[in-house]
Amino acid sequence: MLRTFIDDVSSVVAATDDEHEITKRVGLLLSALLASDFRLPPELTRPAADHHVNYPLHIAADGAWSLAAVVWNVGQRTPVHGHETWGVVGIYSGAEREFRYVKPTEEGVPLTPAGEQVFEQGQVTVCCTTDDDVHSVAGVGDAPTVGLHVYGADIGAIERRRYDPGTGAVEWFTGGWDTPPVPSSRLGNRTPRPARCPSPSRTR
Ligand SMILES: [Fe+2]
Repeated sequence: MLRTFIDDVSSVVAATDDEHEITKRVGLLLSALLASDFRLPPELTRPAADHHVNYPLHIAADGAWSLAAVVWNVGQRTPVHGHETWGVVGIYSGAEREFRYVKPTEEGVPLTPAGEQVFEQGQVTVCCTTDDDVHSVAGVGDAPTVGLHVYGADIGAIERRRYDPGTGAVEWFTGGWDTPPVPSSRLGNRTPRPARCPSPSRTR
């Protein structure tokens, strides 16, 4: 089932460069996956005590896209960050609150909030296109939050921005991947590349 999803997303990504078209079509595929009886290995739904974790489920060989299982423990929240590519997020279990910001056109100007929304199990949202990709995400509720995240790059390897929303200060970072507690071969994936510049504060 995951293999079919990966093949279908690969076909979408190969068919067009239009991020709005890609995210629309990937969103439909992700909704169908979440509505199916697909289940992650339990090991890939486990939170970590000190930071939310980003397990690679698939990284395209050419780096054109990636699929992650992202797990927040209760109370964990990301810094405000960008992605520099498109992204689609579906909630596998639990719930998240997304705090959006207008992508700034210059550095050093406080960020403008653009609303917040709670997403629950089974819901899918387009988290980003390259021109609208700034947010912070928190797990909400009294259980860990698990999301399936599809991005238009190897999201653990590319350089991205982290923002101080109060000042608009930007810090570039590479998020890296967390090591799955099960062999990645079980999911039919290649080994993720190590982060070039691991960040002490994980951001997805
Ligand atoms: Fe994010």
